[in-house]
Amino acid sequence: MHELREAGAKAARIMADHLEGVAERPVWRPVPDGELAWLTGQELPETGRALDDLLEDAREHVLPYPMGNGHPRFFGWVNSPPNPAGVLVEPLAAALNPSCAGGDHAGPHLERTVVRWLAGLVGFPHPPGGGLLTSGASMATVICLATARQQAALADGWDAREEGLSGRPPLVMYVTEEGHSCLHKAAQLLGLGARNVRLVPVDGAYRMDVRALRAMIAEDLDAGRRPFCVAGSAGTVNSGAVDPLDGIADVAASYGLWFHVDGAYGALGVLDGGAAPHYAGMEQADSLALDPHKWLGVPVGCGCALLRDPAAARAAFSLVPSYLVDENAGDLGWFAEYGPEQTRPFRALKTWATLSYLGRSGVRRLVEHTTGLARTLGEMIEAAPDFELLAPVTTSITAFRHTPRAGALPRELDELNRALPVAVQARGNAFLTGTRLGGRDALRTCILHPGTTEQDLVVLLEEIRLAAKAL
Ligand SMILES: Cc1ncc(COP(=O)(O)O)c(C=O)c1O
Repeated sequence: MHELREAGAKAARIMADHLEGVAERPVWRPVPDGELAWLTGQELPETGRALDDLLEDAREHVLPYPMGNGHPRFFGWVNSPPNPAGVLVEPLAAALNPSCAGGDHAGPHLERTVVRWLAGLVGFPHPPGGGLLTSGASMATVICLATARQQAALADGWDAREEGLSGRPPLVMYVTEEGHSCLHKAAQLLGLGARNVRLVPVDGAYRMDVRALRAMIAEDLDAGRRPFCVAGSAGTVNSGAVDPLDGIADVAASYGLWFHVDGAYGALGVLDGGAAPHYAGMEQADSLALDPHKWLGVPVGCGCALLRDPAAARAAFSLVPSYLVDENAGDLGWFAEYGPEQTRPFRALKTWATLSYLGRSGVRRLVEHTTGLARTLGEMIEAAPDFELLAPVTTSITAFRHTPRAGALPRELDELNRALPVAVQARGNAFLTGTRLGGRDALRTCILHPGTTEQDLVVLLEEIRLAAKAL
């Protein structure tokens, strides 16, 4: 243990040095060929190496090449910097190294608390056992949709787990084209068939058109199909749009559909006073996916599936062989009965630490700060003649494009905006990513860093202009 004690103290210093210096280094830089060879080509050593050597290697070959999301001018995809409290306790979770499948030890008990806190933060109902931590929202979505699938089958008098889906009317799910790809992946994985995921049109603000949803459900019913689930978004990845959740809840209730909300990125946006009205109806969902490893900054990976009726998830997943029977498990049983994972990491510790460190007011401040900056960026863009705002700013995502030349053809603007993200990234001073929105190539920023300032937004727009000139 002496070696671990010494090396552990050094690792703590390296970690703090790294985090302290993030803002002074390039946001991102490509991995040079020599380092790539080290990262990808090394051989497994025949004999074990000293802990201190491993730290030196990590310092030299790993830490200098981050993804960039620790930096206050990282605006790409939906990736946050790590919360220091989460970083602090990660090694403790590893030192304990439990499986949080279930049982009477700290991990599963703390997970119950953390899930309850998360539900409470976003105002989602929390019956005992009403959720579990997952690797991310993709896995949370699989859990929620598998639960919905089994509930639909049971309601119709059959059992999808026992019989499979063949010979049954197609189960149909509804999302908008702005819905995250994880919804499609989950539907495909669950054997629903990509063709049975209907794309509901959106309005001018990229929110689900509820009248169209109603019409599509009626059409599917007429054709003998079985509508079973509608998935709304509380914060789309393209523009941060929040679907009209209360309207969707009404439709779901009137047709007996499962109502799922993808709040992976945006559910916490409900804590911002300005954004809160957009979230009306989220609390009516049957299931909600929410990622602590996004806005909260819990170190990757930690997602969460929240369920209005936990027994429904148990009905979809519980399979307890004799070697796993636990007479003392209590009414809720094991977490492993509510999802596909058996051995489950101790995700609760870093989530508990992050939430405790921030406190409720700290979470709210973080959400308000980042959402406020996204609105400011929207205003800066609207005031600038060479930029165009492409969607209202609801959460901390701003969708826009660069329009430097008056009279440019749509195709030219598309080409420019498609090329810009990589060009900006290569300059190393800011990082943003692109997308297609409303049939146009767009730029988008997602602000999640508590240290991002208005000045960083000024730098970002200037970086886009400079990158465009050099193209
Ligand atoms: C809106 C939204 N939904 C779902 C996901 C998938 O979450 P995860 O990457 O944690 O699996 C993401 C990821 O960025 C997202 O932004």
